Formats: sequence, structure tokens, C-alpha cells
Amino acid sequence: MTTRILTGITTSGTPHLGNYAGAIRPAIIASRQSHADSFYFLADYHALIKCDDPLRIQRSRLEIAATWLACGLDTERVTFYRQSDIPEIPELTWLLTCVAAKGLLNRAHAYKASVDRNVELGEDPDSGVTMGLYSYPVLMAADILMFNAHQVPVGRDQIQHVEMARDIGQRFNHLFGSGREYFVMPEALIEDGVSTLPGLDGRKMSKSYDNTIPLFSGAKATKDAISRIVTDSRLPGEAKDPDSSHLFTLYQAFGTPEQVAQFRADLLSGLAWGEAKQRLFQLLEAELAEPRERYHALIERPADLEDILLEGAIKARKVATPFLSELREAVGLRSFRADVQSGEAAKKKITKGARFVSFRDDDGSFRFRLLAASGEQLLVSHRFADGKSAGYASKQLQAGAPLDLRVDDKGFSVYLAGQFVAVSPDFTDLLERDAAMQSLRDMLAAQPE
Ligand code: TRP
Repeated sequence: MTTRILTGITTSGTPHLGNYAGAIRPAIIASRQSHADSFYFLADYHALIKCDDPLRIQRSRLEIAATWLACGLDTERVTFYRQSDIPEIPELTWLLTCVAAKGLLNRAHAYKASVDRNVELGEDPDSGVTMGLYSYPVLMAADILMFNAHQVPVGRDQIQHVEMARDIGQRFNHLFGSGREYFVMPEALIEDGVSTLPGLDGRKMSKSYDNTIPLFSGAKATKDAISRIVTDSRLPGEAKDPDSSHLFTLYQAFGTPEQVAQFRADLLSGLAWGEAKQRLFQLLEAELAEPRERYHALIERPADLEDILLEGAIKARKVATPFLSELREAVGLRSFRADVQSGEAAKKKITKGARFVSFRDDDGSFRFRLLAASGEQLLVSHRFADGKSAGYASKQLQAGAPLDLRVDDKGFSVYLAGQFVAVSPDFTDLLERDAAMQSLRDMLAAQPE
């Protein structure tokens, strides 16, 4: 069994070392496992929610695409695409929006945080809140459910969104599945441990703290950032405590166990901070110098990147297009032409293949069902005390005895000579119920004896 792993990267910034260690590197490693069927995409519709600068959006998409490829993502193995190249995603978003409870979205952290901030400032609670921000989890649910992902690697802040995708998907399955599970229930996969890098000041490395080490800006930019890593004021020759040093934590995320052990020993025996920073720089260069060259080569060929991503979109749409048509069918967005044809085909099938099946119920009573060729149950009989009366009733129906159908709300009952004999399943609406009554009449009139 392959596992479908899917994750999106919001294209609103330039990747830094923290993104590399926390998301890019582990995702690329995961995609090489033999059971993995990975879908990685640029969440550029999501980027529009927080950024209204077109140049920045465009630049970020390009940089992030080039970064992933330069870091070794193999687009033969992985489906790598831009969200905005898959029109099925916004279409599915709408289908899901129509089943997502507003109360569910009211509880989304990102939206709630904005409301809380407004209230604190004495503003209108929804001040500055767009429908994009509010519906963000529905778009994300569509990303995930469109491809029936099993696992969704995300940061902790995104767990709630994956849970919402489950909720919304389940609701859809329940409403439209008639026993079929259209959507797989996704699991959030949390990357913990060393993968969360500290930034220059020791807090989590993040653009919003302005404490990042750039990924591919060049050796000099990396060196400058490293020189700004905050350390204590111990002098050269004084013992340093590796475990309270985030410089050491950074080193740990990139070094081999032997390198890390050596670095620890050297700090304990008084390695100067300047020297320690130089070592970290060399370690990063060893891992990143080559991908950096590939990155710059890719950035200079945006047309090639475009081709790669469009190929990815074709691959993704091979899954999305047929699946979305099934979902459209499920909710009732069907071609009128197909409706007539399949309506007739269905009728023929019912007429031809329908059969009466008798069975003995748990309580010992004698019953029968009328099943369509598809196996769908059209009627189930009353509990008869003996096999003979059950057989008689089904014979009567097959022989085309005058049918007395009586509606009861969403279903109907069948009477023969004033006696109740069978009942239909409940239909989703009255039109469907009436259509079923009509086709039952047609069918029983046509039953061979
Ligand atoms: N919201 C995610 C983030 O900010 C990005 C994202 C969008 C995503 N769609 C997704 C992640 C689907 C996983 C699956 O990190």
C-alpha cells in the first residue's frame, strides 16, 4: 500500500534555514521512501490571503519552486505543482464551503486571533478580516481532500486545520456518500525535535522575529547572519555550556554525530565563540554550497521552472479532474443529457435484472426483498408469519396485481388488496421518492411471470 503524503508551502516569503531544516529537508527525505506517493505544492492561493503585493507573490513562488528543486526534490517521483494551476481546487472549495459549518470556522485559531486582537484594541471584531482569512481552512481542506491524502506533514499551528479537513470531509461523505466514502480521513504528521531551528536570538527561527539565517542568499549573507548569533560573553579559553547555546543547537541540526561530539568537547574545553561560528559556517557551506549553485541556475531559467510546474499540474489534474466530476455528480451537478440516458439505462437495468429474494428474519418471520440488478434494495416486505403468505405476496407483485402505493413522508408503502406488504427505503427528497414509485410501477408491470 502506498501512502499519499501531501503538503503545501505558502508562497509569501523567501525560504530560510529554518524552513529548510524544518520542512524542506524532511519532506524531500520522506518522498524518497518507497511507499510514499508525495504531493507537494505551492499554496499560492493561500498566499493571497496574507499578501496583496503581486510582485512579492510572484517572486516568492519562483524562489520556493527553485529552492525545492535545488534541494533535490525529484519531480519524477513527486507530484510538484502550484495550487493555482488546479482549477478543481477552488471548485471543490465551494462544494466544501456548502457543507462546512460556520460554527466550525468561527473556532479557527487564525481567525480567532484576529478577532481577539480587534476586541483588545476596541475595534469592530471583524475589522480587517477578509473572507479569505475566514475561509482559509476550507481551502486547505480542499487541498488535502482533493487528493485523498493519508498524511499531511505540517507544523503544530496547522493541526487544527487538518482536523477541520477531516470534519468537513466526513460531513460530505455522510451527506452525499450513500455508503461510499468519497474522502479519506487525513492525519496530521508533526515534525518535531531538531527540525525546529532556533534563530539568531534563540527564539524559533521565523521571518516574523527577524532572526533568520538565509538559505541561498550567498556565502557572505550566511556569514553575516552567523556573526549575529547571540552568545554569552565567555572569553576564549573559558568553558562554554553547549546545552544552553543555540549556536550548538544549530550545529547539531547539520552535523554528523561525530562532528557534533567533537564540537561539544571543543566548546567545553574553551573554543572561542568566533571560532565556533566559523565552524558552523563551514558546516552549513558543506551542505548548502552545491544546492545554492543549482538554485541560482534555476532562478535564472524561470521558463524552465514554469514547464516543470505545468508538468506537475498535468499530473495532479489526472487525479483531480475525474475525482471532481464524481463529486459534482454526488451533489447533483449532473449533465441533463447524461440524466436522460442514465435514467433510461437505470430503468432498463432495474426492469431487466430486478429480483425478489426471500429470507428468514432473525425473529423467525418470513420476508422478501425486491432488489435492483445493482443490488440496491427497492422494497423490503412486511414480516409474514409463514413462508406461504410471503411467497403469495411476492407472486402477486410479480404477476402485476394492481398496486396500491401509499406515500409516507420520504418513502412509500405497498399494499395489495388493502393489506400492507412492503415498504421502500427513505429517499432524500420527494421528487426522488415519486420517481422511484413511478419506476416501480413500470417495472412490476413489465415483470415476466
Ligand atoms: N496553511 C499551510 C501553512 O501555512 C500551508 C498549506 C496550504 C497546507 N494548504 C495546505 C499544508 C494543505 C498542508 C496541506 O503552513
